[in-house]
Amino acid sequence: MGNESLWYPFTPSSGPNPHQIVKGEGKYVFDYLGDRLLDATAGGVACVILGHGRKEIAKAVQEQLEELEYYCLFGYSHPLAEKFAHEIAQRTPGDLNHVFFTNSGSEAVETALKAARAFWYRNNQAQKTKFISLHNGYHGMNFGGISIGGLTENRTTFGPLLSGCTQVPAHDIGLLQEEIEFQNPETIAAVIMEPVQAAGGVYPPPEGYLTEVRELCDRNNILLILDEVVCGWGRLGHWFGGHRYGVVADIMTTAKGLTSAYIPMGATIVNERIHQNFIGGGNIEFMHGYTYSGHPAACAAGLTVVNILEKENIVSNANSVGRHLQERMRELVESPIVKEVRGEGMLAAVEFDSEDCFGTVTQVVIAMQKQGILIRAQEDHVGIYPPLTFTKEDIDTVVDGLTDVIGKLS
Ligand SMILES: Cc1ncc(COP(=O)(O)O)c(C=O)c1O
Repeated sequence: MGNESLWYPFTPSSGPNPHQIVKGEGKYVFDYLGDRLLDATAGGVACVILGHGRKEIAKAVQEQLEELEYYCLFGYSHPLAEKFAHEIAQRTPGDLNHVFFTNSGSEAVETALKAARAFWYRNNQAQKTKFISLHNGYHGMNFGGISIGGLTENRTTFGPLLSGCTQVPAHDIGLLQEEIEFQNPETIAAVIMEPVQAAGGVYPPPEGYLTEVRELCDRNNILLILDEVVCGWGRLGHWFGGHRYGVVADIMTTAKGLTSAYIPMGATIVNERIHQNFIGGGNIEFMHGYTYSGHPAACAAGLTVVNILEKENIVSNANSVGRHLQERMRELVESPIVKEVRGEGMLAAVEFDSEDCFGTVTQVVIAMQKQGILIRAQEDHVGIYPPLTFTKEDIDTVVDGLTDVIGKLS
């Protein structure tokens, strides 16, 4: 398989042709050979929280396309955008009540950064423009996202980046405080981080860290942006990472689970204080938007996702199955080739301890695939982030497979 016209994202052009996935059904996908694979990656990158092929989502999208395929939200509205924004606001932590629709997580991050700067500008504190984020953080691939991103390989070759962005080592409150003092709080717009660092290797914060970050931001009059693109919608066994860690951000980003990836969509949600600041004045207060912001088909998908999450108690399933996943994953640390096992809720990683880490990762992923199980290959670790519909038995299938594969390599 493979196609010369297709320029793949995040894929080496000289490697083997990417494996073609042709069909999805519940927890499984089928490849071009007709082989059935248990998808422990929710579509590869932790998106498809409800699993594949949900007919009710497809039906809702089709019905909406037949009713109204598209109308822009620039000075117009449509019922589903209003309804979906309301349903999102009902579930987000605290007073994160105002939803700005985007088409991806990267755009949600870009929107959050622009909203933070514009907020201070409108507040007569236009000097507050800087952003502080964490080493190893991932915030998407737009210029804003890579400027605050903490993964070196995503930044190289694209400079110069957005000015005023610095990173500190993750999960060290003292170092964050020092950086805030060094930069001067009067010049800082926001601190931004993921509740659990996902793409960077699955690093949960120590208990209490996010509360300390919130307090630090409050003391210094700095906004806190939580990037919940992965952590939101049940991934951590709670509706949002903010709920899991007892913290309410000023601005929150989401995507992926928002529509279970049936239609691309992201959103940036701001609290009352920020929203109030943008209200009034007659002219357009926030000169920002995307042609497809709040696309009716995406809203139809998202509303159905929220409905299913509620009806089938998916978040509570993620909570109990997530605990089981974490417990079972701990067994893998016994292996001499395993350096560390990390995770929270339905998000887990195994990091390897070998000279050729990526070689080991590749061997593990291929061997798992031969057993009919898809897990994610990253530089030095494998990632497991299944649909939130997985049962404890599904988790056992994945961990038993990993135990077997890793045992043979040790
Ligand atoms: C925390 C976080 N923020 C932003 C993004 C970017 O989202 P997208 O790929 O939809 O642009 C991602 C993607 O994985 C992410 O994990």
